[in-house]
Amino acid sequence: MQNKINDIQKNFHIDINNVVTQQDLEFVRIKYLGRQGVLTDLMSTLKDISADEKRIFGPLCNQLKIEFQNLHLEKIAKLEQEEALLLAKKSALFDVSINKPNQLHGSLHPYTLITQEIEDIFISMGFAVADGPELETDFHNFGALNIPSDHPARAESDTFWLPDLKRLLRTHTSTVQVRTMKNNTPPIAIICPGRALRNEATDASHDFMFMQIEGLYIDKNVSVANLLAVIKEFLDKLFGKSLKLRVRPGFFPFVEPGLEVDAECPFCKTGCSTCKGTRWIELMGSGLVHPNVLKECGIDPTIYSGFAFGPGLTRLAMLKYHITDIRLLHSGKIEFLKQF
Ligand code: PHE
Repeated sequence: MQNKINDIQKNFHIDINNVVTQQDLEFVRIKYLGRQGVLTDLMSTLKDISADEKRIFGPLCNQLKIEFQNLHLEKIAKLEQEEALLLAKKSALFDVSINKPNQLHGSLHPYTLITQEIEDIFISMGFAVADGPELETDFHNFGALNIPSDHPARAESDTFWLPDLKRLLRTHTSTVQVRTMKNNTPPIAIICPGRALRNEATDASHDFMFMQIEGLYIDKNVSVANLLAVIKEFLDKLFGKSLKLRVRPGFFPFVEPGLEVDAECPFCKTGCSTCKGTRWIELMGSGLVHPNVLKECGIDPTIYSGFAFGPGLTRLAMLKYHITDIRLLHSGKIEFLKQF
């Protein structure tokens, strides 16, 4: 009997020491302490031994049971502790910012990058960013902008009209300026980045869709000097150096006077392929907002004046990032996009 008890005890210790999971432990409990387990079996043999032996082995069997039960409880506590520790370790190791090598990262499109940069520059000068629809009315795109009904830009060859010939895809983002002037009282200082669409044949520098970023400032006593100061600050910050400007007369029905602004080529000293050897690059139309436009938008031109300018965001992005074909910007080619 004693040998049997010793064997059981030895085996129990081996089994419980090998326990790793709750499930292992449950197997050990059933094996030794279960209703048909080793201990029940052992107890049942007590009836076959003499009264003297019973007096010795009865208490020994009970002690064994208590020992097993205690060790079982200890093991439960130990497993729970280990599990909690593992969990804590796991959560400490979880790093949301971890940078896995060899992964294909997304990147911001050059349009997004340059828009964010330009918005920052203008916000630092007190401008707000305005938005508007791409599907527009004749009034917002042409009528309010002093563009007469016989203006060639209205022709079907330039403008994408909807079949009702009333609505169109905006040909410039000046539409947002009209909407802003109609809904606000001066002073107004906004820029409006966004898509513009024109019915043009596609080549390396033209596409039917391009991006513009027009600006508008309306207040009392606004002058061409204010316009040029803002444009210079903008271009200097965008290209990271002080650039000379060249101003030429230009015609746009919605400004008077109208000016074309060119900047000294930021990339060369003697002429390069970007400036086509001229040392100047044409950047934008601009001017003082025509009194007819102010009137159309409910602003009194005898009190207020303002300036507007409209560089192509597509052109600025191509210049800044040295992109030579507009089609790359619109292609979604990963090889091109992953450079940004
Ligand atoms: N809206 C003009 C265009 O699309 C650009 C422009 C804006 C010109 C403001 C002058 C003043 O070409």
